[in-house]
Amino acid sequence: MTAAATASQESLKQHLNVTGGLQLNGTFRVSGAKNSALVLMTASLLTEDCVELVNIPNLTDICSMSEILESLGVQVTRDSDRISLTASNLNGSNPPYELVNSLRASFFSIGPLLGRLGQAKVPLPGGCRIGARPVVEHIRGLKSLGAVVSVEHGIVTASLPGTRKRLRGAQIVLDCPSVGATETILMAAVLAEGTSTIENAAQEPEVQDLASLLNVMGARITGAGGPVITVEGVETLHGCRDYPVIPDRIEAGTFLMAAAITRSPLRVEPVIPEHLSAVLQKLRDCGCALEIDEQGVTITPGELTAVDITTQPFPGFPTDLQAPFMALMCTAQGTSVISEKIYENRLQHVAELQRMGASIRVDGSTAIVEGVSSLSAAPVTGSDLRAAAAMVLAGLVARGTTKVSGLKHLDRGYDDIESKLSRVGARVNRNSV
Ligand code: EPZ
Repeated sequence: MTAAATASQESLKQHLNVTGGLQLNGTFRVSGAKNSALVLMTASLLTEDCVELVNIPNLTDICSMSEILESLGVQVTRDSDRISLTASNLNGSNPPYELVNSLRASFFSIGPLLGRLGQAKVPLPGGCRIGARPVVEHIRGLKSLGAVVSVEHGIVTASLPGTRKRLRGAQIVLDCPSVGATETILMAAVLAEGTSTIENAAQEPEVQDLASLLNVMGARITGAGGPVITVEGVETLHGCRDYPVIPDRIEAGTFLMAAAITRSPLRVEPVIPEHLSAVLQKLRDCGCALEIDEQGVTITPGELTAVDITTQPFPGFPTDLQAPFMALMCTAQGTSVISEKIYENRLQHVAELQRMGASIRVDGSTAIVEGVSSLSAAPVTGSDLRAAAAMVLAGLVARGTTKVSGLKHLDRGYDDIESKLSRVGARVNRNSV
């Protein structure tokens, strides 16, 4: 069994005991961004040189991505938060279905594989608990760049027609600002012949980070982070040393909410404030004072009052912080209306919060949260990685000790969460069944 599978198996048998009612103090240390590190790792497929990334978080998803890339012939070496990837001898095989199914970001490798080799076969990533997770936009974009793409038996096959050796630049307009589709198309277009534009592009910081790495590798990309990205194709890309992954804005937001829910003044760093503008505004609106500097954020919570949120593509409120924010609203004064507009099924944490005494009513993709004076500890399960984080937050403020299961999800996106929380005074320990 692979290391990632073993880690996952271990997480299945474990749970966290979270003791409620403790004040926190000190500094949360934020790791490198999972959703950036994963796609930056796939960018190594675009060159035969070594691509070296630093500030890589220690997560099961990173292990899984390493295994997927190794199955393609990439040499991967890991040293603490540094990872070196050399794709000088790609073996032309397909990433294994069970790994792609467990790690959606691995599907994005179809872009660089097609750009580098002129062909790629990648299993369709399955849907997951939060939604169907289609890849229609990714396929449309590759076809616009001149690829022949077919889907049979759950495998997406992309290739160049006839004797063509390179994709050709194109004008692409996305139907929706899909993060993965923008990243997949970017990585295919950088080696295409001619110029491409991606309109209605995703503007997330992770897309900007990918464009920044590709430019360091010799690509010619402008406009990343805005709605229109322009890519002037080049013939080859070279490697790089010590490229730093951006801090994880979702982890930072989760920790800021841990401070808010326990009414604890805390420091969270590093944080790039413009990566979290919508979240910082909502924390202010619900009664938290924030001191923001170039290293991070100091939060001083007051009495929490309920505010409404609607999840949207960046720079709107991120869907990945909807569940943690809902936990926060459970003990705020008043009524909060939380609308999930990105995924069709990302309210499964409501039932778990209700088990802890939360007063929440669901109407379609909207949850109406009536703040209660306190939550009570209960055995709960996180249905996806952000729901699991929400259960930990609720446990920090519930009366008693909450047993949080679903660590297989949690460990995918949070680097050693129990140590980080314990370091600031929480009582969180991991038990095996
Ligand atoms: C990325 O997923 C993140 N994952 C997700 O984080 C994040 O929630 C999401 O972006 C939105 O911010 C990684 O980066 C690895 P999308 P991605 O394509 O790229 C619809 C986490 O918790 N859509 O932007 O798969 C889709 O149905 C994870 O860390 C289409 O309709 O997200 C969804 O409603 C969860 N057609 C919306 O767009 C398509 O072809 C967002 O999907 C593609 C997507």
